[in-house]
Amino acid sequence: MRLPTFPTRFTRFARAAAALAAVGLLSGCYWLDGPQSTFDPSGPVARRQQDLFYLTCWVSLVIFVIVGSVLAYAMIKFRARSEADQHAEPPPQGHGNPLVEMSLIGASVLALVVIAIPTLKEIWYSYDLPVEEKANSYEITATGYQWWFKFDYPNETAKTADNTGKVMNAPFSTANELVIPAGRPVQINLRTVDVIHSFWIPKLAGKVDMMPNRGNHLWVEADKPGYFWGQCAEFCGESHAVMRFRVIALGPRDFNNWVNAQMEIARRVPVAPADAGKPRAQFAAYRTFRRNEAGSSDEFDRAPLDSWRRMQSTDVANEDPELIAKGRELFSTKTCSTCHTVRGDGYIGVVGPELTHVGSRSTIAAGLLQNNRDELHRWIHAPNEVKPGNTMWVKGYIANNIKLTPEDEDALVNYLSSLK
Ligand code: CUA
Repeated sequence: MRLPTFPTRFTRFARAAAALAAVGLLSGCYWLDGPQSTFDPSGPVARRQQDLFYLTCWVSLVIFVIVGSVLAYAMIKFRARSEADQHAEPPPQGHGNPLVEMSLIGASVLALVVIAIPTLKEIWYSYDLPVEEKANSYEITATGYQWWFKFDYPNETAKTADNTGKVMNAPFSTANELVIPAGRPVQINLRTVDVIHSFWIPKLAGKVDMMPNRGNHLWVEADKPGYFWGQCAEFCGESHAVMRFRVIALGPRDFNNWVNAQMEIARRVPVAPADAGKPRAQFAAYRTFRRNEAGSSDEFDRAPLDSWRRMQSTDVANEDPELIAKGRELFSTKTCSTCHTVRGDGYIGVVGPELTHVGSRSTIAAGLLQNNRDELHRWIHAPNEVKPGNTMWVKGYIANNIKLTPEDEDALVNYLSSLK
Protein backbone atom coordinates (compact mmCIF):
# COMPACT_ATOMS: atom_id res chain seq x y z
CA MET A 1 0.00 0.00 0.00
CA ARG A 2 1.22 3.46 -0.86
CA LEU A 3 0.89 6.08 1.82
CA PRO A 4 -0.77 9.33 0.69
CA THR A 5 2.05 11.60 -0.31
CA PHE A 6 2.72 14.73 1.65
CA PRO A 7 2.02 17.40 -1.02
CA THR A 8 -1.54 16.10 -1.62
CA ARG A 9 -2.42 16.24 2.06
CA PHE A 10 -0.71 19.58 2.44
CA THR A 11 -2.54 21.20 -0.49
CA ARG A 12 -5.85 19.84 0.70
CA PHE A 13 -5.21 21.23 4.16
CA ALA A 14 -4.04 24.56 2.76
CA ARG A 15 -7.14 24.87 0.61
CA ALA A 16 -9.46 24.09 3.54
CA ALA A 17 -7.62 26.58 5.75
CA ALA A 18 -7.82 29.30 3.10
CA ALA A 19 -11.56 28.71 2.63
CA LEU A 20 -12.15 28.84 6.39
CA ALA A 21 -10.11 32.03 6.72
CA ALA A 22 -12.03 33.62 3.83
CA VAL A 23 -15.40 32.81 5.42
CA GLY A 24 -14.16 34.16 8.77
CA LEU A 25 -12.78 37.33 7.24
CA LEU A 26 -15.83 38.00 5.11
CA SER A 27 -18.28 37.52 7.96
CA GLY A 28 -15.92 39.56 10.16
CA CYS A 29 -15.93 42.44 7.70
CA TYR A 30 -19.69 42.40 7.59
CA TRP A 31 -19.88 42.89 11.35
CA LEU A 32 -16.95 45.25 11.77
CA ASP A 33 -19.23 48.22 12.27
CA GLY A 34 -22.22 46.36 13.74
CA PRO A 35 -23.87 47.73 16.88
CA GLN A 36 -21.85 45.45 19.15
CA SER A 37 -18.54 45.57 17.27
CA THR A 38 -15.38 46.17 19.27
CA PHE A 39 -13.69 47.16 16.01
CA ASP A 40 -15.58 50.42 15.93
CA PRO A 41 -14.69 51.99 19.30
CA SER A 42 -16.48 55.19 20.30
CA GLY A 43 -14.52 56.18 23.39
CA PRO A 44 -10.97 56.30 24.78
CA VAL A 45 -11.19 53.12 26.87
CA ALA A 46 -12.48 50.97 23.99
CA ARG A 47 -9.99 52.58 21.60
CA ARG A 48 -6.98 51.78 23.76
CA GLN A 49 -8.24 48.24 24.28
CA GLN A 50 -8.52 47.88 20.51
CA ASP A 51 -4.95 49.20 20.03
CA LEU A 52 -3.74 46.58 22.50
CA PHE A 53 -5.66 43.89 20.64
CA TYR A 54 -3.99 44.88 17.36
CA LEU A 55 -0.53 44.95 18.95
CA THR A 56 -1.07 41.45 20.36
CA CYS A 57 -2.36 40.33 16.99
CA TRP A 58 0.68 41.66 15.12
CA VAL A 59 3.16 40.10 17.54
CA SER A 60 1.31 36.77 17.29
CA LEU A 61 1.16 37.05 13.52
CA VAL A 62 4.93 37.60 13.25
CA ILE A 63 5.56 34.55 15.47
CA PHE A 64 3.05 32.51 13.47
CA VAL A 65 4.70 33.41 10.18
CA ILE A 66 8.23 32.63 11.44
CA VAL A 67 7.31 29.32 13.09
CA GLY A 68 5.01 28.36 10.21
CA SER A 69 7.68 29.07 7.60
CA VAL A 70 10.35 27.07 9.42
CA LEU A 71 7.91 24.20 9.85
CA ALA A 72 6.83 24.29 6.20
CA TYR A 73 10.47 24.49 5.07
CA ALA A 74 11.45 21.48 7.19
CA MET A 75 8.44 19.45 6.07
CA ILE A 76 9.03 20.11 2.40
CA LYS A 77 12.81 19.81 2.38
CA PHE A 78 13.00 16.63 4.45
CA ARG A 79 9.89 14.86 3.18
CA ALA A 80 10.09 11.27 1.98
CA ARG A 81 10.54 11.46 -1.76
CA SER A 82 10.43 7.77 -2.56
CA GLU A 83 9.43 4.38 -1.15
CA ALA A 84 13.04 3.92 -0.01
CA ASP A 85 13.02 7.24 1.87
CA GLN A 86 9.96 6.13 3.82
CA HIS A 87 11.85 3.11 5.20
CA ALA A 88 15.21 4.80 5.61
CA GLU A 89 17.02 4.88 8.96
CA PRO A 90 16.44 8.15 10.86
CA PRO A 91 19.41 10.56 10.71
CA PRO A 92 21.85 10.70 13.68
CA GLN A 93 20.04 12.17 16.72
CA GLY A 94 21.63 15.11 18.56
CA HIS A 95 20.83 17.07 21.69
CA GLY A 96 20.13 20.32 19.92
CA ASN A 97 22.09 23.51 19.53
CA PRO A 98 22.53 25.57 22.73
CA LEU A 99 22.91 28.82 20.80
CA VAL A 100 19.63 28.27 18.87
CA GLU A 101 17.82 27.20 22.04
CA MET A 102 18.98 30.18 24.09
CA SER A 103 18.11 32.61 21.29
CA LEU A 104 14.63 31.12 20.95
CA ILE A 105 14.04 31.44 24.69
CA GLY A 106 15.31 35.03 24.50
CA ALA A 107 13.03 35.82 21.55
CA SER A 108 10.01 34.32 23.34
CA VAL A 109 10.69 36.37 26.48
CA LEU A 110 11.09 39.48 24.36
CA ALA A 111 7.76 38.87 22.60
CA LEU A 112 6.04 38.40 25.97
CA VAL A 113 7.57 41.60 27.33
CA VAL A 114 6.47 43.52 24.22
CA ILE A 115 2.91 42.38 24.94
CA ALA A 116 3.04 42.55 28.74
CA ILE A 117 4.11 46.19 29.17
CA PRO A 118 1.22 47.76 27.21
CA THR A 119 -1.18 45.15 28.63
CA LEU A 120 -0.37 46.19 32.19
CA LYS A 121 -0.61 49.86 31.20
CA GLU A 122 -4.08 49.27 29.74
CA ILE A 123 -5.22 47.29 32.78
CA TRP A 124 -4.28 50.23 35.00
CA TYR A 125 -5.76 52.75 32.61
CA SER A 126 -9.14 51.04 32.29
CA TYR A 127 -9.29 50.10 35.98
CA ASP A 128 -9.81 53.63 37.24
CA LEU A 129 -10.42 57.12 35.88
CA PRO A 130 -7.31 59.19 35.23
CA VAL A 131 -6.77 61.33 38.37
CA GLU A 132 -7.05 64.61 36.47
CA GLU A 133 -10.44 63.53 35.11
CA LYS A 134 -11.97 62.63 38.48
CA ALA A 135 -13.40 66.08 39.19
CA ASN A 136 -15.14 66.10 35.80
CA SER A 137 -16.55 62.57 36.08
CA TYR A 138 -20.13 61.43 36.54
CA GLU A 139 -21.11 58.50 38.77
CA ILE A 140 -23.67 55.79 38.16
CA THR A 141 -24.35 52.45 39.85
CA ALA A 142 -25.41 49.60 37.59
CA THR A 143 -27.03 46.57 39.21
CA GLY A 144 -27.64 43.24 37.52
CA TYR A 145 -30.90 41.38 38.09
CA GLN A 146 -32.10 38.17 36.43
CA TRP A 147 -32.63 39.51 33.69
CA TRP A 148 -32.38 43.26 33.45
CA PHE A 149 -30.17 46.14 34.50
CA LYS A 150 -30.98 48.85 36.99
CA PHE A 151 -29.14 52.18 36.86
CA ASP A 152 -28.98 54.36 39.97
CA TYR A 153 -27.90 57.98 39.79
CA PRO A 154 -26.58 58.56 43.33
CA ASN A 155 -25.98 62.27 42.84
CA GLU A 156 -29.45 63.13 41.60
CA THR A 157 -32.49 63.72 43.78
CA ALA A 158 -35.86 62.94 42.28
CA LYS A 159 -39.32 63.98 43.39
CA THR A 160 -42.09 61.78 44.63
CA ALA A 161 -45.43 62.54 46.26
CA ASP A 162 -47.46 60.91 49.01
CA ASN A 163 -51.22 60.24 48.96
CA THR A 164 -51.98 63.81 49.99
CA GLY A 165 -49.92 65.13 47.09
CA LYS A 166 -47.11 66.37 49.33
CA VAL A 167 -43.90 66.37 47.28
CA MET A 168 -40.84 64.69 48.80
CA ASN A 169 -37.35 63.67 47.74
CA ALA A 170 -36.63 60.21 46.41
CA PRO A 171 -33.61 58.41 45.00
CA PHE A 172 -33.54 58.22 41.24
CA SER A 173 -33.08 55.08 39.22
CA THR A 174 -33.93 53.94 35.75
CA ALA A 175 -33.73 50.61 33.97
CA ASN A 176 -32.24 49.10 30.85
CA GLU A 177 -31.36 52.45 29.30
CA LEU A 178 -28.29 54.08 30.72
CA VAL A 179 -28.18 57.76 29.85
CA ILE A 180 -24.74 59.31 30.22
CA PRO A 181 -23.14 62.66 29.44
CA ALA A 182 -20.99 62.48 26.27
CA GLY A 183 -17.41 63.71 26.42
CA ARG A 184 -17.20 63.16 30.17
CA PRO A 185 -15.76 60.13 31.93
CA VAL A 186 -18.44 58.09 33.66
CA GLN A 187 -17.62 55.96 36.67
CA ILE A 188 -19.92 52.92 36.78
CA ASN A 189 -20.14 50.92 40.00
CA LEU A 190 -21.11 47.32 39.28
CA ARG A 191 -23.38 45.37 41.62
CA THR A 192 -25.64 42.34 41.41
CA VAL A 193 -28.58 41.24 43.53
CA ASP A 194 -28.44 37.59 42.53
CA VAL A 195 -25.94 35.71 40.36
CA ILE A 196 -22.84 36.79 38.44
CA HIS A 197 -23.60 39.00 35.45
CA SER A 198 -21.15 40.77 33.20
CA PHE A 199 -21.55 44.35 32.09
CA TRP A 200 -20.47 45.05 28.54
CA ILE A 201 -20.84 48.01 26.19
CA PRO A 202 -18.67 46.78 23.28
CA LYS A 203 -18.12 50.19 21.67
CA LEU A 204 -17.22 51.91 24.94
CA ALA A 205 -15.26 49.44 27.09
CA GLY A 206 -14.43 45.80 27.73
CA LYS A 207 -16.63 43.67 29.94
CA VAL A 208 -16.42 43.59 33.73
CA ASP A 209 -18.25 41.08 35.93
CA MET A 210 -20.93 42.03 38.43
CA MET A 211 -20.07 39.79 41.37
CA PRO A 212 -22.17 39.00 44.45
CA ASN A 213 -20.56 40.50 47.59
CA ARG A 214 -17.92 42.33 45.64
CA GLY A 215 -17.87 45.91 44.42
CA ASN A 216 -16.45 46.02 40.92
CA HIS A 217 -16.36 49.11 38.76
CA LEU A 218 -15.33 50.39 35.37
CA TRP A 219 -15.27 53.70 33.60
CA VAL A 220 -16.35 54.68 30.13
CA GLU A 221 -16.43 57.79 28.05
CA ALA A 222 -18.37 58.37 24.83
CA ASP A 223 -16.59 60.70 22.40
CA LYS A 224 -19.81 62.26 21.24
CA PRO A 225 -23.58 61.81 21.55
CA GLY A 226 -24.66 58.37 20.42
CA TYR A 227 -26.75 55.29 21.01
CA PHE A 228 -24.91 52.15 22.02
CA TRP A 229 -25.83 48.56 22.64
CA GLY A 230 -24.97 46.71 25.82
CA GLN A 231 -25.28 43.09 26.80
CA CYS A 232 -24.84 40.81 29.77
CA ALA A 233 -21.75 38.80 28.88
CA GLU A 234 -21.79 36.06 31.52
CA PHE A 235 -24.22 33.17 31.48
CA CYS A 236 -26.71 33.95 34.24
CA GLY A 237 -29.72 31.74 33.64
CA GLU A 238 -32.27 30.89 31.03
CA SER A 239 -32.82 34.44 29.73
CA HIS A 240 -29.16 35.48 29.75
CA ALA A 241 -29.20 35.92 25.97
CA VAL A 242 -31.96 38.52 26.20
CA MET A 243 -30.41 40.46 29.09
CA ARG A 244 -29.51 43.53 27.12
CA PHE A 245 -29.41 47.27 27.64
CA ARG A 246 -28.86 50.47 25.74
CA VAL A 247 -26.58 53.42 26.42
CA ILE A 248 -27.57 56.89 25.32
CA ALA A 249 -24.81 59.50 25.40
CA LEU A 250 -25.99 63.09 25.28
CA GLY A 251 -24.37 66.52 25.00
CA PRO A 252 -24.33 68.65 28.20
CA ARG A 253 -27.58 70.54 27.57
CA ASP A 254 -29.55 67.48 26.42
CA PHE A 255 -28.24 65.50 29.37
CA ASN A 256 -29.34 68.17 31.84
CA ASN A 257 -32.76 68.36 30.23
CA TRP A 258 -33.12 64.62 30.45
CA VAL A 259 -32.10 64.55 34.13
CA ASN A 260 -34.51 67.37 34.97
CA ALA A 261 -37.39 65.65 33.17
CA GLN A 262 -36.68 62.36 34.93
CA MET A 263 -36.70 64.00 38.38
CA GLU A 264 -40.36 64.91 37.95
CA ILE A 265 -43.15 62.75 39.34
CA ALA A 266 -45.19 60.64 36.95
CA ARG A 267 -47.01 62.52 34.22
CA ARG A 268 -50.77 62.88 34.67
CA VAL A 269 -53.04 63.08 31.67
CA PRO A 270 -56.00 65.08 32.98
CA VAL A 271 -59.49 63.79 32.32
CA ALA A 272 -61.09 66.85 30.80
CA PRO A 273 -64.68 67.40 31.98
CA ALA A 274 -65.62 67.92 28.35
CA ASP A 275 -64.54 64.34 27.61
CA ALA A 276 -66.69 62.83 30.33
CA GLY A 277 -69.84 62.33 28.26
CA LYS A 278 -67.99 61.15 25.13
CA PRO A 279 -68.37 57.49 24.12
CA ARG A 280 -65.26 55.52 25.13
CA ALA A 281 -62.96 54.10 22.51
CA GLN A 282 -63.22 50.38 21.91
CA PHE A 283 -60.19 48.59 23.22
CA ALA A 284 -57.39 48.46 20.68
CA ALA A 285 -56.72 45.32 18.69
CA TYR A 286 -53.06 44.52 19.12
CA ARG A 287 -50.92 42.63 16.71
CA THR A 288 -49.95 39.09 17.67
CA PHE A 289 -46.29 38.22 17.55
CA ARG A 290 -44.53 35.06 16.57
CA ARG A 291 -42.25 33.67 19.26
CA ASN A 292 -38.72 35.10 18.81
CA GLU A 293 -39.93 37.68 16.33
CA ALA A 294 -37.58 40.68 16.16
CA GLY A 295 -38.48 43.27 18.78
CA SER A 296 -37.67 46.39 16.80
CA SER A 297 -38.39 47.76 13.35
CA ASP A 298 -35.71 48.46 10.74
CA GLU A 299 -36.63 52.10 10.90
CA PHE A 300 -35.90 52.15 14.64
CA ASP A 301 -32.59 50.36 14.20
CA ARG A 302 -31.41 52.70 11.44
CA ALA A 303 -31.56 55.80 13.66
CA PRO A 304 -32.07 54.66 17.25
CA LEU A 305 -30.90 57.96 18.77
CA ASP A 306 -33.57 59.84 16.81
CA SER A 307 -36.14 57.28 17.94
CA TRP A 308 -34.99 57.81 21.52
CA ARG A 309 -35.30 61.59 21.17
CA ARG A 310 -38.83 61.24 19.83
CA MET A 311 -39.75 59.21 22.91
CA GLN A 312 -38.86 62.18 25.15
CA SER A 313 -41.63 64.31 23.75
CA THR A 314 -44.77 64.59 25.88
CA ASP A 315 -46.75 65.67 22.86
CA VAL A 316 -48.58 62.38 22.41
CA ALA A 317 -51.36 61.61 19.97
CA ASN A 318 -54.27 59.22 20.62
CA GLU A 319 -54.24 59.37 24.40
CA ASP A 320 -57.38 58.28 26.15
CA PRO A 321 -57.40 59.89 29.61
CA GLU A 322 -60.07 57.59 30.99
CA LEU A 323 -58.32 54.46 29.78
CA ILE A 324 -55.09 55.76 31.29
CA ALA A 325 -56.85 56.36 34.62
CA LYS A 326 -58.24 52.82 34.49
CA GLY A 327 -54.73 51.49 33.77
CA ARG A 328 -53.36 53.41 36.76
CA GLU A 329 -55.93 51.72 38.98
CA LEU A 330 -55.31 48.26 37.50
CA PHE A 331 -51.61 48.75 38.14
CA SER A 332 -52.45 48.51 41.82
CA THR A 333 -55.36 46.01 41.79
CA LYS A 334 -53.42 43.59 39.58
CA THR A 335 -50.47 43.91 42.01
CA CYS A 336 -48.02 45.44 39.48
CA SER A 337 -47.31 48.06 42.16
CA THR A 338 -45.91 45.40 44.50
CA CYS A 339 -42.80 45.27 42.34
CA HIS A 340 -42.65 48.57 40.43
CA THR A 341 -42.23 52.17 41.50
CA VAL A 342 -44.14 54.99 39.85
CA ARG A 343 -43.19 58.16 41.72
CA GLY A 344 -46.19 60.34 42.38
CA ASP A 345 -48.75 57.61 41.73
CA GLY A 346 -48.11 56.04 45.13
CA TYR A 347 -46.37 52.88 43.86
CA ILE A 348 -43.12 52.00 45.56
CA GLY A 349 -42.21 48.41 44.61
CA VAL A 350 -38.49 47.76 44.18
CA VAL A 351 -38.36 44.21 42.78
CA GLY A 352 -38.67 45.25 39.13
CA PRO A 353 -37.66 48.31 37.12
CA GLU A 354 -38.81 51.77 38.16
CA LEU A 355 -41.48 52.87 35.68
CA THR A 356 -42.04 56.55 36.51
CA HIS A 357 -40.88 57.56 33.04
CA VAL A 358 -41.02 54.23 31.22
CA GLY A 359 -42.84 55.89 28.31
CA SER A 360 -39.72 57.94 27.56
CA ARG A 361 -37.50 54.88 27.03
CA SER A 362 -36.86 53.67 23.53
CA THR A 363 -36.91 50.01 24.56
CA ILE A 364 -38.56 47.76 27.14
CA ALA A 365 -37.96 44.24 28.49
CA ALA A 366 -34.19 44.59 29.02
CA GLY A 367 -33.56 46.42 25.77
CA LEU A 368 -35.16 43.63 23.76
CA LEU A 369 -38.34 45.24 22.45
CA GLN A 370 -38.90 48.63 20.93
CA ASN A 371 -41.12 50.69 23.21
CA ASN A 372 -44.40 51.07 21.36
CA ARG A 373 -47.95 50.02 22.18
CA ASP A 374 -47.79 46.78 20.20
CA GLU A 375 -44.55 45.61 21.81
CA LEU A 376 -45.68 46.78 25.24
CA HIS A 377 -48.81 44.70 24.79
CA ARG A 378 -46.73 41.75 23.60
CA TRP A 379 -44.68 42.01 26.78
CA ILE A 380 -47.47 42.26 29.35
CA HIS A 381 -49.67 39.79 27.46
CA ALA A 382 -47.15 36.92 27.43
CA PRO A 383 -43.93 37.92 29.20
CA ASN A 384 -42.74 34.33 29.32
CA GLU A 385 -42.60 34.17 25.53
CA VAL A 386 -40.34 37.22 25.44
CA LYS A 387 -38.09 36.52 28.40
CA PRO A 388 -38.47 32.92 29.62
CA GLY A 389 -38.51 32.49 33.38
CA ASN A 390 -38.70 36.19 34.18
CA THR A 391 -39.73 37.28 37.66
CA MET A 392 -42.85 39.17 36.51
CA TRP A 393 -44.20 35.97 35.02
CA VAL A 394 -43.13 33.45 37.64
CA LYS A 395 -43.50 35.44 40.88
CA GLY A 396 -46.16 37.81 39.58
CA TYR A 397 -48.60 36.38 37.06
CA ILE A 398 -48.32 32.74 38.13
CA ALA A 399 -47.80 33.14 41.88
CA ASN A 400 -50.59 35.73 42.25
CA ASN A 401 -52.81 34.09 39.64
CA ILE A 402 -53.11 37.36 37.73
CA LYS A 403 -55.55 37.29 34.84
CA LEU A 404 -55.78 40.21 32.45
CA THR A 405 -58.68 40.68 30.04
CA PRO A 406 -57.94 42.31 26.67
CA GLU A 407 -59.52 45.50 28.05
CA ASP A 408 -57.24 45.37 31.12
CA GLU A 409 -54.21 44.95 28.89
CA ASP A 410 -55.25 47.86 26.75
CA ALA A 411 -55.72 50.09 29.79
CA LEU A 412 -52.30 49.09 31.18
CA VAL A 413 -50.62 49.68 27.83
CA ASN A 414 -52.19 53.13 27.68
CA TYR A 415 -51.17 53.96 31.25
CA LEU A 416 -47.57 52.81 30.79
CA SER A 417 -47.14 54.64 27.47
CA SER A 418 -48.46 57.81 29.10
CA LEU A 419 -45.60 57.75 31.64
CA LYS A 420 -43.35 60.02 29.62
CU1 CUA B 1 -26.93 38.47 33.25
CU2 CUA B 1 -26.08 36.96 31.64
